[in-house]
Amino acid sequence: MPQTAAKKRVLILNGPNLNMLGKREPEIYGRDTLDDIRAACQGFCDARGWALEFRQSNHEGELVTWIQEARETQDAVIINAGAYTHTSVAILDALHLLKCPIVEVHLSNIHRREAFRHHSYISSVATGVIVGFGATGYILALTGLEAG
Ligand code: DQA
Repeated sequence: MPQTAAKKRVLILNGPNLNMLGKREPEIYGRDTLDDIRAACQGFCDARGWALEFRQSNHEGELVTWIQEARETQDAVIINAGAYTHTSVAILDALHLLKCPIVEVHLSNIHRREAFRHHSYISSVATGVIVGFGATGYILALTGLEAG
């Protein structure tokens, strides 16, 4: 279905360990919980009449299945794949199925952390990438989608 300004459908996917935000290394990831981020994203989407699905999974295959389903059901996908960012060809292959914009988000600046975090399989297929702005990165991603 073509994208319409009136009712954009956005899927936000979160990968492993992001359900632990708030408790997990707050000096790196901040004190916001994933529910706090979900609420902020919901507020942004509600204000624009967009439909938001916000999901988290610790399982690579579940993320792959959700991305496959998004091919027919979403107008944009925002993804923080957590550690799968750096390892998952399966998630990359699934993202290649999408016809809609993809925004990659990371709370931390992965480029100033350990070397193994510097490579992202997702960046090669992403429309845009936002790193290092903490929870605000999700709102920046939504803002980028609104700008077109
Ligand atoms: C992360 C960065 C990844 O390297 C890490 O494995 C995560 C979170 C981030 O949002 O900064 O789980 O994606």
